[in-house]
Amino acid sequence: MAKQKHSARATAARIIAEVTQKKHSLNGLLSEALPLLAENERSLCQQLCYGVLRWYPQLDVISQQLLAKPLKKKDADIAALLLCGLYQLRDLRIPSHAALSETVNATKTLGKQWAKGLINANLRNYQRQSADIEQIIQKSDSAQYAHPEWLLNRFKVDWPEQWQDILTANNKQPPMMLRVNKQQTTRSDYLIQLGDSDIRASEIEGCSEGLLLEKPCDVYQLPGFIEGYVSVQDGAAQHVAKLLNIRSDLRILDACAAPGGKTCHILEQDPKNEIIALDIAPNRLLQIEQNTDRLKLNATLIASDAADVEQWWDGQLFDRILIDAPCSGTGVIRRHPDIKQLRRPEDIASLAEQQNRLLNRLWPLLKPDGLLIYTTCSALKQENEQQIEAFLLQHPEAQENKLDAEPAQRRPFGYQRLPGDDDLDGFYYASLSHR
Ligand SMILES: C[S@@+](CC[C@H](N)C(=O)[O-])C[C@H]1O[C@@H](n2cnc3c(N)ncnc32)[C@H](O)[C@@H]1O
Repeated sequence: MAKQKHSARATAARIIAEVTQKKHSLNGLLSEALPLLAENERSLCQQLCYGVLRWYPQLDVISQQLLAKPLKKKDADIAALLLCGLYQLRDLRIPSHAALSETVNATKTLGKQWAKGLINANLRNYQRQSADIEQIIQKSDSAQYAHPEWLLNRFKVDWPEQWQDILTANNKQPPMMLRVNKQQTTRSDYLIQLGDSDIRASEIEGCSEGLLLEKPCDVYQLPGFIEGYVSVQDGAAQHVAKLLNIRSDLRILDACAAPGGKTCHILEQDPKNEIIALDIAPNRLLQIEQNTDRLKLNATLIASDAADVEQWWDGQLFDRILIDAPCSGTGVIRRHPDIKQLRRPEDIASLAEQQNRLLNRLWPLLKPDGLLIYTTCSALKQENEQQIEAFLLQHPEAQENKLDAEPAQRRPFGYQRLPGDDDLDGFYYASLSHR
């Protein structure tokens, strides 16, 4: 009975409705819901949530074609269940009769048996009309590339030559990548350990500690994960610690640190350095602590708005500052497809303002011979090269450095990796110092 209530399809429908209606993040909802599901239902639930949110703008157009009239807001779970049914029929290798009957059954689990006929009829209609519906999809870029119109237009304006590649990359399932903790083991030794556990992997070019898994797996299947041999991190993010040019006896500020991926990578370069890891979200500091504990590293954690310098700063300048800024996440949509639903057009200007504030307030905390690295996982110029251009105009005493080991494509200011370049996440990097 308990398992009935928490079937994969009904749970996925509820989660998708919460993302689209209440703008809650997929990760948070999944981590609450998955433990309530029987083990064999979890991967289907995850597959449905990720798949439907990845293709939402396309599936939504299809459901609008099918439904005689839009469903009421209070039935957003049924609207989402219909999308789950469409996604199964279009993209999953589930026999269509099973996809259909199980999706219809999920109406009961949701306590909405009245919708049985509606789901059944619309999914069957889709099967009959699929050729016509495909033609309708091709008529709109937003439906074809499954991105909201406003975001698609921003990519078109910023990257007129590359926007289609970006959107295509955003819709791919991302590979799983690891960062080997060089304080515990070496990449070549860890590759052998993976092989012994029948996990196939290869080195990521240009990332000295990076490994690419042939197939994603549960982290607890990774040898030595609990002991801190390895962390999950995309190769694009692994470039950041290298840009900080870490050596001994540095005082380092990681201003937007949670969940601590880069804090830990910086410490893995030299664990004796002093690092202050700050984050505005106190509950997210716990994640940094879990990571430093597991990896056997030490950081000073502070919960504060980094830009509110008077609140937390002890007056001593830093050799290195990392601002891994809050951003639109438009470079990592392949990992977080809910971004398509969560972001709104007006968010970009507000994020750009926060980024500018962080840059302006933290710049004076850098030693005269120090280095400030600004990064985002955004692919939009307003948060990246235009942000740094504006900063340099405001600060004639600052310069943007050309890097010997270029982490991505050179831009007029900084370096941009577009989503999918080298099969890595989209990322922006800029290195700033005093003139
Ligand atoms: C891109 S994430 C950082 C990822 C992290 N550097 C890592 O590698 O794991 C941005 C973080 O900035 C935090 N943040 C947002 N505004 C902030 C502010 N004004 N001061 C400090 N942290 C902030 C968010 O809570 C979020 O954890």
